[in-house]
Amino acid sequence: MRVLKFSCNLIFLLLCCATCASSAAHRFPGSVIQPEKISSSAVSKPENELYKTKYFTQILDHFNYNPQSYHKFQQRYLINDTYWGGAKKNAPIFVYTGNEGDIEWFTQNTGFMFDIAPQFKALLVFIEHRFYGKSIPYGGDKEVAYANSSTLGYLSSTQALADYATVIIDLKKNLTATDSPVVVFGGSYGGMLAAWFRLKYPHVAIGALASSAPILNFENITSPYSFYNIITKDFRSQSENCYQVIKGSWQKIEDTAKQHGGLDLLQKSFHICKNAIGANLLSNWLSTAFIYTGMTDYPIPSNFLNPMPAYPVKQMCKAIDNTEHGNDTFAKLYAAANIYYNYTGHAKCFDLDDHSDPHGLDEWSWQACTEMVMPTDGSNEESMFPVSEPSYSDWAESCHDYYNVWPRPNWITTEFGGHDIKNVLKRFGSNIIFFNGLRDPWSGGGVLEDISKSIIAIVAKEGAHHVDLRYATKEDPEWLKDTRSREIRIISQWLFQHYTSLLHLSR
Ligand SMILES: *[C@@H]1O[C@H](CO)[C@@H](O)[C@H](O)[C@H]1NC(C)=O
Ligand SMILES: *[C@@H]1O[C@H](CO)[C@@H](O)[C@H](O)[C@H]1NC(C)=O
Ligand SMILES: *[C@@H]1O[C@H](CO)[C@@H](O)[C@H](O)[C@H]1NC(C)=O
Ligand SMILES: *[C@@H]1O[C@H](CO)[C@@H](O)[C@H](O)[C@H]1NC(C)=O
Ligand SMILES: *[C@@H]1O[C@H](CO)[C@@H](O)[C@H](O)[C@H]1NC(C)=O
Ligand SMILES: *[C@@H]1O[C@H](CO)[C@@H](O)[C@H](O)[C@H]1NC(C)=O
Repeated sequence: MRVLKFSCNLIFLLLCCATCASSAAHRFPGSVIQPEKISSSAVSKPENELYKTKYFTQILDHFNYNPQSYHKFQQRYLINDTYWGGAKKNAPIFVYTGNEGDIEWFTQNTGFMFDIAPQFKALLVFIEHRFYGKSIPYGGDKEVAYANSSTLGYLSSTQALADYATVIIDLKKNLTATDSPVVVFGGSYGGMLAAWFRLKYPHVAIGALASSAPILNFENITSPYSFYNIITKDFRSQSENCYQVIKGSWQKIEDTAKQHGGLDLLQKSFHICKNAIGANLLSNWLSTAFIYTGMTDYPIPSNFLNPMPAYPVKQMCKAIDNTEHGNDTFAKLYAAANIYYNYTGHAKCFDLDDHSDPHGLDEWSWQACTEMVMPTDGSNEESMFPVSEPSYSDWAESCHDYYNVWPRPNWITTEFGGHDIKNVLKRFGSNIIFFNGLRDPWSGGGVLEDISKSIIAIVAKEGAHHVDLRYATKEDPEWLKDTRSREIRIISQWLFQHYTSLLHLSR
């Protein structure tokens, strides 16, 4: 009975008019179309060597006392106590506030916490977000949990934060580690959760590292054009030709598709599987590659969304600028697409109709249709993507058609703030690091300036989506090493302050 179940990809296409390139609601690090399944062999350690898996009996609804609210579900968390200094020493606890997907995937891509645990003697805990991975309410039955708004209604950021507080408090009790300070970490939506957690639960966490957390990408605080314009800048800064070729390609694709035999030509040019081809499908597929390549333009080879070389934007532009293809736009774009979709060289043909979701990110569409309304769909003359006006009402309509709910675009700023953030957080907040890499399209909605002595913005011009949270490698550039050292220094200060105040209390 998966009546209302749909892939994000589908809603993206539903929303797209003839000229619109891609989605109106970008998922964070989701990959919309995956030609290859990601194998976990690409992570540096087999998962069973990194952590132990535990389950906690969690309450369905923290904010209501009707009988339904007392339902319970099993929430997964991962724990690594190898480096922990122990409760007697009040050694710290580092908690990752899980995002919209399988927590194991995020854990394996958050090597930074493993890298720094030994020097802090920290306990590592990674908590899965409700409704994702294995933390599914209604007895773990996705058919029921994802069925419709009566069950999905319990999927929200406020419930997730309350889950995290509940797990942390209970875990500390079990470990008799009441005085162990907790620092929360998160990237992307998980980074937003980390920042909000610090603001809402200051008695539970002494500080937060919020990496690539676009907490300002709500309402009209951030321009809806910034997302596409940042991706555009990523490519344009490599070469003007690269930008021009991509910008000119959408019309070429549309014109070709209309010609007799045009779709066959496109299919052959791009090695598309026989099941699905169309101008919009193809444009979306290419846009997806550009967006996620920009977002994960890491300085080292990675396998976060798809396996990719170091500096993949540069590699794509190199393929596009390659004179070997003369003026054949399709050959150039095909070569570029291969960097995102076929770096391993294993793809037989590209399936534009692939709705596989290896990291379990699909339920983000419910969140995007309710509270996480983050306008990013404007594409102006500057943009290398097809020009399109931001359209909130189209988005809202499609959400209503699909889930029978209307989005509440003002809820996040009501609950967590966002307007006039500098003045507000200066007075009421402390101990948050906002990291942003300016190559990341989400950096447009990030906190890019220091707010106070203890709410600090670290901005890396060459950085991409939460690059700081990845494992350190020998090839890391200096700016990345510096970023991480600074983060470590700041976290040390928070801990020092905490221990100092404990000493005062015990006197
Ligand atoms: C914790 O992580 C380290 C790798 O950083 C690993 O060697 C160790 O086995 C892990 N411990 C547990 C209990 O999983
Ligand atoms: C939602 O799904 C459940 C389980 O399938 C069903 O019992 C219920 O009637 C549905 N509610 C609505 C509003 O469609
Ligand atoms: C704490 O211990 C109780 C009793 O063993 C257990 O049910 C609960 O799941 C534990 N809490 C956590 C967060 O693991
Ligand atoms: C956002 O919209 C509100 C209400 O329309 C307006 O008062 C405010 O100035 C706008 N803010 C920005 C940053 O455009
Ligand atoms: C592309 O190259 C071909 C062959 O070299 C040439 O005939 C054609 O005019 C060129 N088209 C453009 C738009 O430059
Ligand atoms: C993927 O790359 C390999 C190696 O370059 C190539 O042989 C293959 O045709 C590519 N797949 C597609 C679908 O283009």
